[in-house]
Amino acid sequence: MSDYLEETGKTRDRYNRLALLYDLDDVLWLGSKQYSRKKLIKATNLGDSGMVLDLTSGTGRNAGLLAKWVKNGTVIGIDISRNVLKVNRLRNSKYKNLHRVQGMVQSLPFGDETFDTVFCTCGMDTIDGPEIAVSEALRVLKKSGTISLLHLKSNKGPVDVFNFLSRFYAWVWRAEGADLLPYVQKQDVEMLVYKDFQIAEAIIAKKL
Ligand SMILES: C[S@@+](CC[C@H](N)C(=O)[O-])C[C@H]1O[C@@H](n2cnc3c(N)ncnc32)[C@H](O)[C@@H]1O
Repeated sequence: MSDYLEETGKTRDRYNRLALLYDLDDVLWLGSKQYSRKKLIKATNLGDSGMVLDLTSGTGRNAGLLAKWVKNGTVIGIDISRNVLKVNRLRNSKYKNLHRVQGMVQSLPFGDETFDTVFCTCGMDTIDGPEIAVSEALRVLKKSGTISLLHLKSNKGPVDVFNFLSRFYAWVWRAEGADLLPYVQKQDVEMLVYKDFQIAEAIIAKKL
């Protein structure tokens, strides 16, 4: 346990230092990350109400999309870094249904079965102890709720332009990559969508 706490502290410090640079990353990926976030939301069949949790909310690129979509509900974005949350607040100030919490995904400050949907885009690959993070995400999800995950895998495959980007990204952002399918399958869930994009994977599952 202490290992992941120490590593998470280093990750937090890095994101605090580099918060203002994080959005350059989307430019580097030529818009493909924002496109993928939108696709994940569409594939999740999200309604316009309910309680939604955005894990590793960062500078709020996904949180803003979610708040717009869930206009009659509430979105909570949680992140370990105070400075990325400041950017998140500035970016999304027009969404009054979006709230931000500083906290750690491996130990979520919410009760069991609080949320209808839990999202995590481009974040599980940064987390130390992803298995713990997945079980926490499922703990706070209501029965019949949906978990939607999109992240880089640890095996980056043969070198091409996206592969090169993913290695560079992993180096800058401590995004080692995560292979979450077995962790999600261990839980009491029905898999709705699994997409393998070679360097990344998308998982949508319903809690039973
Ligand atoms: C690559 S960014 C992704 C941000 C956002 N989800 C997106 O789609 O752009 C990863 C974020 O995870 C956060 N993070 C890393 N480890 C965390 C942890 N254990 N708990 C909460 N947030 C964490 C970082 O502070 C950073 O903002």
